[in-house]
Amino acid sequence: MLKIDLSGRKAIVTGGSRGIGRAIAVTLADCGADVAVLYAHNKEAAEETAKMIKEKGRNVIAVKCNVANEDDVQKTVEDIVKEFGKIDILVNNAGITKDGLIMRMEGPDWDKVLETNLKGAFLMTKYSLKYMIKNRFGRIINISSIVGIIGNVGQANYVSSKAGLIGLTKATAIEYSSRNITANAIAPGFIDTDMTKKLSEKVKEQFLQKVLKRVPGKPEDVANVVAFLASPLASYITGTTILVDGGLSLG
Ligand code: NAI
Repeated sequence: MLKIDLSGRKAIVTGGSRGIGRAIAVTLADCGADVAVLYAHNKEAAEETAKMIKEKGRNVIAVKCNVANEDDVQKTVEDIVKEFGKIDILVNNAGITKDGLIMRMEGPDWDKVLETNLKGAFLMTKYSLKYMIKNRFGRIINISSIVGIIGNVGQANYVSSKAGLIGLTKATAIEYSSRNITANAIAPGFIDTDMTKKLSEKVKEQFLQKVLKRVPGKPEDVANVVAFLASPLASYITGTTILVDGGLSLG
């Protein structure tokens, strides 16, 4: 039987306290990995994720880290290596939205989204790479979005950050392939989480009309693909973006 086995692997998941990040952290643990759950503000939620991982018999640490802050990222990565000894898998999942039409979008709202979603992934990648290179193994998985491919109204900052992540993924794949490091992106469509709960009913309906089965995806739908990309089954896949959108992009 084909099985995803991540025994002995050490993973970092940014924004791992809830939603897609929590599902990714728990799924990686389910496959045998130890996980560092990074969170921005919500310690209780991160500890809840950590508890779910512990219950699976895996090692876990929950660490507060603002991915947009370089000093924070550098220190966090070093602390994780002190605890785990290495980093095999990095999942750049942390992301925010600050929506508005371009003509009304304020500069700080542009900056904040780009700093968290794109610069955050760059910084996490930059500081994790050192340890992956040392170990001659790495799996980097960036959580982009379908809107980074097809665009969306009112989300110029978010769309640009998610399109940028696809570029960062390709650049990382090319630069570090010779070190046995792969980098891939996942572009989820409409997934049922706190992020999409805050959308208006009208916008939700518009998205769901395009999904072939008319139902939102679950965080686990994304997490399963992360586990696959992190595993030996995906060792020949790099620089690509896998859509997890239930066909949304077809409509
Ligand atoms: P969410 O809002 O529940 O989770 C986002 C996570 O990122 C939270 O844990 C939050 O604390 C963390 N975060 C935000 N700013 C941070 C910072 N500066 N440093 C560290 N962590 C920070 O949203 P959801 O839906 O779970 O999203 C996860 C990822 O999936 C995001 O990158 C999002 O853009 C992406 N995505 C989500 C889709 C959806 O339909 N829910 C669709 C496509 C992509």
